[in-house]
Amino acid sequence: MIIIIILLFSGCISAAEVFKCSTTPITKDTGLTGVLPAGSTSQVKIPAKTNCTYSFEIPKGFALKVETTTDYVVSPGDMVLFDNFFISPPAINEVDYAMNSKVTYQIISVTGNVTFIAKYTYLDLSNYQQVIKPTGTPFNTSLEPNKYFTVKASNANDQVNLQYGTLHDSTNSHSPFEVFLFDGNDIFNSNYIGRVPQAFGRHYEYYSTSDTLTLINLYGGPSDSLFLGNDASVVENMDTYGVYVMDSNSDYNGWMVLKQEIDILPDAWYTVICNGCPSFSIEAMMFDTQCAYSNEKGYVEIQGMTPTQRLPPMLHYQYSTNNNDSFPQLIPSPIATFHLHNASTNFIFRSGAQQKDFVTAPGTSRSVSSPQLWNPDATPAFDYTFSDLSKAYNFSIDLQTIQLENDQDVLSIEVGSVNGLTTLDKKYTKTKLENENISGIGSYLKLKYSGTKTSKVILNFEMIDPLNPAGTTTLPSYITSVPTRATRVSTVSVQSTVVTSKNSQIVVTTTPTVATTTPTVATTTPTVATTTPTVVRTTPLITTTPVTTSTITTRQSPDTTKLMSSTSSNHPTSSPTTVSSMQRFYTNNSFTSRDNNKRMLFFASNQYLHLFPVDTNVMIVTVEV
Ligand SMILES: *[C@@H]1O[C@H](CO)[C@@H](O)[C@H](O)[C@H]1NC(C)=O
Ligand SMILES: *[C@@H]1O[C@H](CO)[C@@H](O)[C@H](O)[C@H]1NC(C)=O
Ligand SMILES: *[C@@H]1O[C@H](CO)[C@@H](O)[C@H](O)[C@H]1NC(C)=O
Ligand SMILES: *[C@@H]1O[C@H](CO)[C@@H](O)[C@H](O)[C@H]1NC(C)=O
Ligand SMILES: *[C@@H]1O[C@H](CO)[C@@H](O)[C@H](O)[C@H]1NC(C)=O
Ligand SMILES: *[C@@H]1O[C@H](CO)[C@@H](O)[C@H](O)[C@H]1NC(C)=O
Ligand SMILES: *[C@@H]1O[C@H](CO)[C@@H](O)[C@H](O)[C@H]1NC(C)=O
Ligand SMILES: *[C@@H]1O[C@H](CO)[C@@H](O)[C@H](O)[C@H]1NC(C)=O
Repeated sequence: MIIIIILLFSGCISAAEVFKCSTTPITKDTGLTGVLPAGSTSQVKIPAKTNCTYSFEIPKGFALKVETTTDYVVSPGDMVLFDNFFISPPAINEVDYAMNSKVTYQIISVTGNVTFIAKYTYLDLSNYQQVIKPTGTPFNTSLEPNKYFTVKASNANDQVNLQYGTLHDSTNSHSPFEVFLFDGNDIFNSNYIGRVPQAFGRHYEYYSTSDTLTLINLYGGPSDSLFLGNDASVVENMDTYGVYVMDSNSDYNGWMVLKQEIDILPDAWYTVICNGCPSFSIEAMMFDTQCAYSNEKGYVEIQGMTPTQRLPPMLHYQYSTNNNDSFPQLIPSPIATFHLHNASTNFIFRSGAQQKDFVTAPGTSRSVSSPQLWNPDATPAFDYTFSDLSKAYNFSIDLQTIQLENDQDVLSIEVGSVNGLTTLDKKYTKTKLENENISGIGSYLKLKYSGTKTSKVILNFEMIDPLNPAGTTTLPSYITSVPTRATRVSTVSVQSTVVTSKNSQIVVTTTPTVATTTPTVATTTPTVATTTPTVVRTTPLITTTPVTTSTITTRQSPDTTKLMSSTSSNHPTSSPTTVSSMQRFYTNNSFTSRDNNKRMLFFASNQYLHLFPVDTNVMIVTVEV
C-alpha cells in the first residue's frame, strides 16, 4: 500500500509498462495529432541505455508542432532532442515547430532517469498570407502571426543577401532560431534551408539562389532582432558587412572594425538601424590608433539607408586622432551605412526624436543636408536652429551643393542675435550653387528648407569663435574690459576708439580699413547699398585711450553721422560728432544697433564688451554701461 502511494507521487509517471521505440516514420496521414510514446497520457520513464529516434515526415505547406514535457539531468548523457536541438529540462508543455520534410525526435536515456511525453500536431499553413519585403527594408524577426515574409531583390537577376542584427543591449535573442528559411518565393514550393542560424552557418549571412527568399516564424515570441535583406550584387563585393541595431532607449557605444581573414580586409560596411527612431546622431567617433592599418589614408564614409538603396556617401571623416569638433552630427534617417576603409572606430550613437534645436560650440563644424538624400522616403524639408543665446559665433557656411530645381523649393539661412539683428539673411529659390561660402556673426543660425525630392541641399558650417578664430588663444588681445579700455576688433581690420564720458558712456567708433571685408552681409541689406563708398578720413574722435599704436584710419560716411546726430539730444556725450543713439545692453545678451541699417553686433559678457562690426560702413554708437 505504501509503495503504491510513493509511485503516484513521484511525478505522475505512466504506469506504462515497457517503453517501446517505434522507428516507423510518422506521417500526416497516420493522424494530424498524436502522442509520443504512443498511447501515453503522462510522462514515461525511459529505461537506461535507450537511444530512440522517432522520425516525422512533413509535407509541403504543413508544419509540425510538438509540445514536450520532460525531466532529466543533462550531465550523464541523457538528452531529448527535437530537430537536433536540445529540449532543456525541466520542460513543461514546451512548444516547438519544424518544417523540414523529415525531422527527428530523439530520446537518449543513459541513466534510466529520463521521463517525457510529447504531443504533436500537423498544422496546415495554406491560409497563411504572404508579405513581400523589398530588399533594403528591415523587419522584426518575430514576423507576424498567420503571415510569412518573402524578401525580394530589386532586380529579377539579383539575389538576396539576408542578415540580422540584434539590439545592442540585448543579451540574447532566440527569435532567429525560431524562423524557418526557404530559398524561394513561398513556403509551399521552395526549398527548406533550415532555421536561420543553421542556414547562416559561421558566415552570419545567407544568399538566396534566386531573387527571393522566404521566412516564417510560427513561435511568435517577442524578439530583439531585425532582419535585413540586401541585394546580393551590392553586398557580395564588400569584404565585410554587418547590421547593428539600436533603439530609442539608450546610447550605443560600440566598435566598427575591419575583419581579418589571412590578411586584414581593408574595407568594411555596417548598416546601423535605429529601431523606432526618426533619426540618430553620432556623438563621437574615435579612430582606433592602435591597429597597424591606422593611417592618415584611412577614413569612414556614411551614406543613407542600406547598401541596397545605393545612395552616395554624405559624410566623410578622414582618419584623425582628434575629431571631436565634428560631433555631434545628426543623421536625419533611422538607417545609415558606414564604410570603413583602413580604419576601425569606437563610436557613440544617440537616438533622437525629430530634432530641431541644437547647441552651438566653438570651433566645431556640422553638416546639414536635405533628408531625402539620406532616405528617399523622407520629407524633403528641415527646420534647424543652432544656438546658444549667450554666445556669438561667426557661422562660416560652405554651400557645398545647392540645387533648387522647382519653384516651390526654398532654402533660407539666417544668422542673428537675440535682440533682433540679423547679420545674414539669405533666401534661395531656383538656384544652383557649388562651394559658395557665406558667413554671419550672431548667436543663432537658422536653416530652413522646404523642397522637392529632385532638389538637393548640402551645406557645412563652422562655428568660429570671433574672439578666438584659430581656436588657440584664450585671451585675444582685442578684448578689453568695459568701460575704460579701447577696443580693437582686429579680425576685420576695424579700429575703434573709446571715450568715457561723465555719465559712463562709451563712444565707440569703428571702421574697417578694407572696404570689401564682409561683402556677404551687404547683399542682405539693400538699404546699405546707397551708402557712399567715399572714404572720409578723419582724426580719431576724442581720444583718451587709443587702441593701437598703428595709424588709425577712420572712415565715416556722411549719412551715418547725420542720422546718428538726430538722436543725440537725449544722450550727452563728450563729442558733438559722436552723438548717437544709446542702447542699453544686458549681461550675456546680444543686441544690435539698427541706426541707418548699419550693422554691428554687440555681445556682452560680465567683463567684456565684444564688438563685431559686420558691415563695411562706418558706425558710431554710444553704449551705456
Ligand atoms: C543514437 O542513435 C543514432 C542513430 O540512430 C546515432 O547516430 C547516435 O550516435 C546515437 N547516440 C548515442 C548517444 O548513442
Ligand atoms: C537516478 O535518479 C535517482 C533518484 O534521483 C538517483 O538516486 C540515481 O542516482 C539516478 N541515477 C543515475 C545513474 O544518475
Ligand atoms: C518585434 O515585435 C515584437 C512584437 O510585436 C516586439 O515586442 C519587439 O519589441 C519587436 N522587436 C524589435 C527589435 O523591434
Ligand atoms: C590600406 O591598408 C593596406 C594594408 O595596410 C595598404 O596596402 C593599402 O595601401 C591601404 N590603402 C590606402 C588607400 O591607404
Ligand atoms: C571625444 O569625445 C569622446 C566622447 O565624449 C571622449 O570619450 C573622448 O575622450 C574625446 N576625445 C578627445 C580627444 O577629446
Ligand atoms: C567669418 O568667417 C569667414 C570664414 O572664415 C571669414 O571669411 C569672415 O571674414 C569672418 N567674418 C568675420 C566678421 O569675422
Ligand atoms: C569655402 O570654405 C571651405 C571650408 O572653409 C573651403 O575649403 C573652400 O575653399 C571655400 N570655398 C571658396 C570658394 O572659397
Ligand atoms: C553671464 O555669464 C556668466 C559666465 O558665463 C555667468 O556666470 C553669469 O551668471 C551670466 N549672467 C546672467 C545674467 O545670465
